Amino acid sequence: MTLESAALANAAAPFGGAVAARPRFTISEETTGDVVAREALLDACFGPARFLKTCERLRAGRLPARGLALSAHEGERLVATLRLWPVLAGSGRPALLLGPLAVSPDHRALGLGAAMIETGLVRAKARNHRAVLLVGDAPYYQRFGFERRLTEGLALPGWVDPARFLGLELAPGALNNARGRVSAAGAFAPAATTAALPRAA
Ligand SMILES: CC(C)(COP(=O)(O)OP(=O)(O)OC[C@H]1O[C@@H](n2cnc3c(N)ncnc32)[C@H](O)[C@@H]1OP(=O)(O)O)[C@@H](O)C(=O)NCCC(=O)NCCS
Repeated sequence: MTLESAALANAAAPFGGAVAARPRFTISEETTGDVVAREALLDACFGPARFLKTCERLRAGRLPARGLALSAHEGERLVATLRLWPVLAGSGRPALLLGPLAVSPDHRALGLGAAMIETGLVRAKARNHRAVLLVGDAPYYQRFGFERRLTEGLALPGWVDPARFLGLELAPGALNNARGRVSAAGAFAPAATTAALPRAA
């Protein structure tokens, strides 16, 4: 599904409201009531080493971009999570960092991961974000338009496999000649939000 066709699926729903992704699931903005289940899902998918990832240095102590922390529910149960974070892609070039994305193991290969990404990208574009970066499996993310060539001039604040560092332009040319270090740009999280969570190294 393209970004545009995802927009068709989501255009009718006001941002902040629930969006039907597939008949069984509802994608909506994350609430504080989702946090415990979200963290349990991320622990199950990535283990404690997730807090040591290079991308965590761009997320730790920050808030996700407004309207871009998403949860999928089947009934009352949280079955997928995705957040996008404000960063600078080199000096003076605002972008978003996508991730972590996780789908409950018993809900995979149903299109839920794709629906989360497409919903996130449609919302990001509607909020005038111009570019999205991520570190992830290219064979999965290429289908959404993410490309390695767009990040070749950028450096993350730690080592990642270069083949997994990908970019997507929501506005044409948004990553043209992007150079320099990617840095955190999100609002700082209130202390109460982060105190209960393990910290990145
Ligand atoms: C990766 C993940 C989010 C995909 O979610 P999902 O809901 O199963 O994905 P979708 O249903 O949208 O897509 C399924 C398709 O993607 C493929 N796919 C899934 N993970 C893939 C990967 N890592 N690399 C390449 N292809 C992948 C599946 O084989 C399937 O292919 P098909 O459409 O040809 O049958 C999910 O497997 C997950 O949560 N994994 C653990 C956490 C993780 O790795 N997150 C991503 C960080 S990079």
